[in-house]
Amino acid sequence: MKRIFGTTPRGETACIYTISCGQMKAELSDFGATLVRLYVPDSKGNTADVVLGFDSPASYAASDAYFGATVGRNANRVKDAAIVVGSKTYRLHANDGSNSLHSGPAGFERRMWQVAEHKADRISFTLHSPHLDQGFPGNADIRVTYRLTADSLVISYAAVSDRDTVFNMTNHSYFNLTGHDQPEKAMGQILSMPARFFTPADAESIPTGELRPVVGTPMDFRSPKALGRDIGADYEPLHLQQGYDHNFEVFCNPCAILSDPNSGRSMAVYTDCPGLQLYSGNYTDETGKDGVKYGRRSAVCLETQFYPDAIHNQQWKQPVTKAGEKYKSETTYRFSW
Ligand code: BGC
Repeated sequence: MKRIFGTTPRGETACIYTISCGQMKAELSDFGATLVRLYVPDSKGNTADVVLGFDSPASYAASDAYFGATVGRNANRVKDAAIVVGSKTYRLHANDGSNSLHSGPAGFERRMWQVAEHKADRISFTLHSPHLDQGFPGNADIRVTYRLTADSLVISYAAVSDRDTVFNMTNHSYFNLTGHDQPEKAMGQILSMPARFFTPADAESIPTGELRPVVGTPMDFRSPKALGRDIGADYEPLHLQQGYDHNFEVFCNPCAILSDPNSGRSMAVYTDCPGLQLYSGNYTDETGKDGVKYGRRSAVCLETQFYPDAIHNQQWKQPVTKAGEKYKSETTYRFSW
């Protein structure tokens, strides 16, 4: 199914595409290759839309929240908005102080994507990104596919460039498993993450390079706990980022399990990425779908990606793909109820 979503600020017509499988249903837009709605059942047969979003392309374009967005070429921050690839320096666009966040103001979340394939249970969007688009080297072709199974949303990325470049794509969905319209429940969601280490960051959210053990800190989710339990703890990384907004190591799968005591829904995250950004929506202040007010901490993002600013931390896995080689990545959000 396809319907008109609305007009973008550039005058393009954006559409909403529906995919479904069993009791799972999703709505996606070609504006930003965005996940707009995700319907998941519960054990009583009640279905809820478990992601934050907006009702119009204009609202997506006006917001810096990245609700459900396909973020690229590079998710998260790059210090001083500059990278060296090969022996050349490339200047990115600074949009977070002097740093680049989610590849700057001309992000893929604000582009019209082509629909390459739309079937009952899947949709693929493609985007051409020319040499020096957002400042990155190489003419690049990018594809993101969203596929539903009876219990999962599978998001896969593929990209290729004619020069060595950075690919580090993620999906920026904000999850509230009670339902997007019950923001006050979000911090009651229980998170479990096996990560033993996280990467502390400075006041601009640029990692210091340290890999810090979570043991004995509020960052320890190795035993399940409510997101809100320790979020107000007197701990410098929580002060600096105003809550959880940190990268955790991924060394096994699932790398996170989120569960909701209200509805009984839970969601396990599987990925081939080395890192997971846990973001508790500390800066959210939006009027979203169906007029729902999404204040601070109305949902949680579990963004799979390379470590933030990895390009300036050679000790970490590098987000560089060689000319002509294929970048591939896949993340699965598996639900149970
Ligand atoms: C970042 C946050 C940022 C948010 C929305 C997240 O991925 O970690 O610091 O505020 O995106 O832009």
